[in-house]
Amino acid sequence: MKIIVTGGAGFIGGNFVHYMVNKYPEDMIINLDLLTYAGNLETLKPVENAPNYKFIKGDIADRAFIFKLFEEEKPDVVINFAAESHVDRSITDPESFVRTNVMGTTTLLDACRTYGIKRYHQVSTDEVYGDLPLDRPDLFFTEETPLHTSSPYSSSKAGADLFVLAYHRTYGLPVTVSRCSNNYGPYHFPEKLIPLIISRALNNEELPVYGKGENVRDWLYVTDHCKAIDLIVRKGKVGEIYNIGGHNERTNLEVVKTILKALNKPESLIKFVTDRPGHDRRYAIDPTKIETELGWKPEYTFDTGIVKTIDWYLNNKEWWEHIISGEYTKYFENMYGERL
Ligand SMILES: NC(=O)c1ccc[n+]([C@@H]2O[C@H](COP(=O)([O-])OP(=O)(O)OC[C@H]3O[C@@H](n4cnc5c(N)ncnc54)[C@H](O)[C@@H]3O)[C@@H](O)[C@H]2O)c1
Repeated sequence: MKIIVTGGAGFIGGNFVHYMVNKYPEDMIINLDLLTYAGNLETLKPVENAPNYKFIKGDIADRAFIFKLFEEEKPDVVINFAAESHVDRSITDPESFVRTNVMGTTTLLDACRTYGIKRYHQVSTDEVYGDLPLDRPDLFFTEETPLHTSSPYSSSKAGADLFVLAYHRTYGLPVTVSRCSNNYGPYHFPEKLIPLIISRALNNEELPVYGKGENVRDWLYVTDHCKAIDLIVRKGKVGEIYNIGGHNERTNLEVVKTILKALNKPESLIKFVTDRPGHDRRYAIDPTKIETELGWKPEYTFDTGIVKTIDWYLNNKEWWEHIISGEYTKYFENMYGERL
């Protein structure tokens, strides 16, 4: 099978490429990524010379480019991770989120419709459901929860999901959608909470925490997300949505304190900062559908996954220090400048 993975130089897409290249040597994995600030080819170093892996630089919203690519490559499966993904950035620049997340998705869907596809999979987020109140721990997001977005980011992801489902209903395109809770693990860009806290705590820098740190997130170790997507693409029912999450709810403050304890750093590094506008209070996934229909179970709890993650950041300082110093842009210019 030939599989196009878009956004494979990002955090989850990069972990997914590693997983697929190693698990399915008979499949060809094409990583299509624009290499925005969030795309980092250093993440792909462990697989860059694998015979079943190829990198192509390109924009999912560039229609002429995407159609030419599909004409040449004729992929069997497309898995769309590519996105503008940072909520804070969506508040200052919503338009780039509409362009990549909505128009990029419809461009891929049109190419799939034109050239034929066995499966198009949309990697979405639980943020499309909005948030839950802090005082109702009995409430969870199911696949039937109405879309109720808060930020330009989640609105653009919800818009994309609706297009994906409409292309199934209108044109019979074989699609699936997954909506996952917050991921953490190796190769996570250091602007996001967990890698930010680990990298800053190691440097004894202040740790910014929004509001009082009471917001609750449902954390999933990234490889468990990758396995779920692989399962949905191979065994999931066409036209269906699957929620992915492992019941690992933690307040942001609990996450920060867990990391400080593991690194033996003082809580005095914590600095509470003005809350993000429209900050979602609680996310919590009900994964019953994927567990019962597809037999998915996460391998890691938050307690085991966070230890593995901290170890990875301690053992791979070069990777995240290059990002913080901007060195990674030089790496891909040096390594790939000729080929891009
Ligand atoms: N991070 C999470 O916790 C989380 C949770 C649930 C769902 N998701 C979804 O998973 C996907 C991946 O998230 P992530 O955290 O790995 O994101 P990321 O920001 O780390 O990576 C996004 C990648 O997409 C690429 N990209 C951006 N615009 C592009 C374009 N126009 N054309 C081609 N490539 C482009 C970037 O270069 C980058 O490599 C996103 O769709 C996101 O909405 C993320």
